[in-house]
Amino acid sequence: MKGVIFNAVEDAVVDLYSEDVWDDLLDAANLDGHYTSLGEYDDAELLSLVTAACEMTGHQPDELVKILGRHAFPHLAGRYPELVDGADDTHAFLRRVNDIIHPEVLKLHPDAKPPEFEFEDLPHNVLRITYKSERRLGALAEGLILGAGDRFNEDVQITVVSGMGDAITVFDVKATKLAPSSV
Ligand code: HEM
Repeated sequence: MKGVIFNAVEDAVVDLYSEDVWDDLLDAANLDGHYTSLGEYDDAELLSLVTAACEMTGHQPDELVKILGRHAFPHLAGRYPELVDGADDTHAFLRRVNDIIHPEVLKLHPDAKPPEFEFEDLPHNVLRITYKSERRLGALAEGLILGAGDRFNEDVQITVVSGMGDAITVFDVKATKLAPSSV
């Protein structure tokens, strides 16, 4: 997995906890943590970090990965500002991830293997998303979808239809615009 994902996960851990907690996780997972954005690292390192974080927090792995994905999203998006503009809402943005953003990521990082998505419009503003990847990181996708909803100020309700933890995971994603914040 590209270092940029590890960088965004580190940023999420620091947001949610602290630099010290990130260092503790690296120690517990026996990793040095020098992730450069363009570097390529073993997926097992991500799993070791998740395992250490689960031991520390008591969360279940899928729940923890979802939380990290949600909080990693703004950092990941912030690293590619030119890719993120151009969509007005969560559903339109998610289609762009598959059609434009991940393909552009592949131009920048030819050795990357981002997941593939299929989309189907269902009634009542529900988008059915089929995630496909041998990495079986549907929980990360779920968290990133929630993070995208935060960015577009939408309430996003996700129903896992099937296959969480498998190479194919199906989600129904309902997005509803929230009133502008009065703050
Ligand atoms: C600003 C938007 C985004 C950028 C720049 C981005 C970029 C990337 C990059 C660089 C990777 C690493 C691929 C590799 O190392 O092989 C990746 C993986 C991934 N992306 Fe995105 N991504 C974005 C948004 C999203 C969103 C919204 C989702 C969820 C629908 C998503 C789902 C995933 C997942 C689950 C992976 C892990 C690899 C896998 O499951 O196969 N990404 N992305």
